[in-house]
Amino acid sequence: MTVDADLDALVRRPIRGLAPYAPGEQVAQCTKMNTNECAWGPAPAVQTVLADLTEDALRLYPQPMADDLRQVASEVFKVSPDRILAGNGSDDCLTILFRTHLQPGDQFACPWPTYSLYDTLAGLQDVEPLHIDYTDWRDGEWGLPTALATTGAPVTIVANPNNPSATLIATNELRRLANQVTGILVVDEAYVDFADAEIGNASMLAFLDDHPNLVVLRTFSKSYSLAGARLGLMFAHPRLIQHYVKVKDSYNVNVLTQLLGIAALRDRDYHRDLVANTLAERAFLEDQLAAFGWTWPTSRGNFLLCRVGEQARSLYLGLKDRGILVRFFDKPGLDSCLRISVGQRADNQALIAALRDLGA
Ligand SMILES: Cc1ncc(COP(=O)(O)O)c(C=O)c1O
Repeated sequence: MTVDADLDALVRRPIRGLAPYAPGEQVAQCTKMNTNECAWGPAPAVQTVLADLTEDALRLYPQPMADDLRQVASEVFKVSPDRILAGNGSDDCLTILFRTHLQPGDQFACPWPTYSLYDTLAGLQDVEPLHIDYTDWRDGEWGLPTALATTGAPVTIVANPNNPSATLIATNELRRLANQVTGILVVDEAYVDFADAEIGNASMLAFLDDHPNLVVLRTFSKSYSLAGARLGLMFAHPRLIQHYVKVKDSYNVNVLTQLLGIAALRDRDYHRDLVANTLAERAFLEDQLAAFGWTWPTSRGNFLLCRVGEQARSLYLGLKDRGILVRFFDKPGLDSCLRISVGQRADNQALIAALRDLGA
């Protein structure tokens, strides 16, 4: 056997040529402002869960459907448990969606630019992404393209607020889209808690009953500060959930994560504070960054997509040299931007000082 060619030949064709998803960089000792994690730690009750973990909790398998977690989530989100599925991060929920709804040769549609993992998951399924540009995305506010309504794709995904822009589409527009598409509409609400706290009525959860083809995703990686634990929730019609259960790994959320999620969900005051602190620090950051003459579309998330011009790449590299990671996308139209996650005050100040130092 010639190793490279013969082993490659044993791999499914769509995977052979697939570019792997590139997660945000992790560099030891660097200040991370590149992956939109929460700048503060999770609720104190989360530490108690870690300290109190019993031997049996680890010896036995976890609840396959994360029933206790779903019960608490049901109370918090006002959605019945039979409409909720837990995932190993919302990325796991997305994997379940792609595997359930899409077969080779299908298309999935999304407004573009957006979270690039969708394309990777499409590639794994031998599914073709259909990107429809957000209106005015290069230099204005990102608007939902009307052509999204008529693609005929079995799955349409809208991240709302969107990544990398942090822009928000109003729920009435998404409800119209849910009525127009012929397939499933997935609204990925990874950052919606920030939008909800700031302007209210940002989530599609309240409209699940009205749209049987609507799937809403939430994550604990952002406003709950549990990115390391990997926990996401999927909300959908019970009929769809029954199919997703067949597709998911039997024990897709580990016991520790289920308990951490319950603790984080229960502390509503702490969650409110995390979101409020983030919004306050975002305002500070916006105020400081405006002095560089930079612009960004209106952010409703915990990050800003700054239009910085030709110096984007060199600033990204210069910041990295100084121990600060921000996100640079080497893609047409985005390569003049830096995506910056909101940090704690000291991180934000260090970022501004480093940018000044770099001549921004
Ligand atoms: C829009 C969007 N969806 C999903 C995720 C992933 O969330 P999780 O950590 O729950 O897998 C991210 C992470 O950055 C994101 O930006």
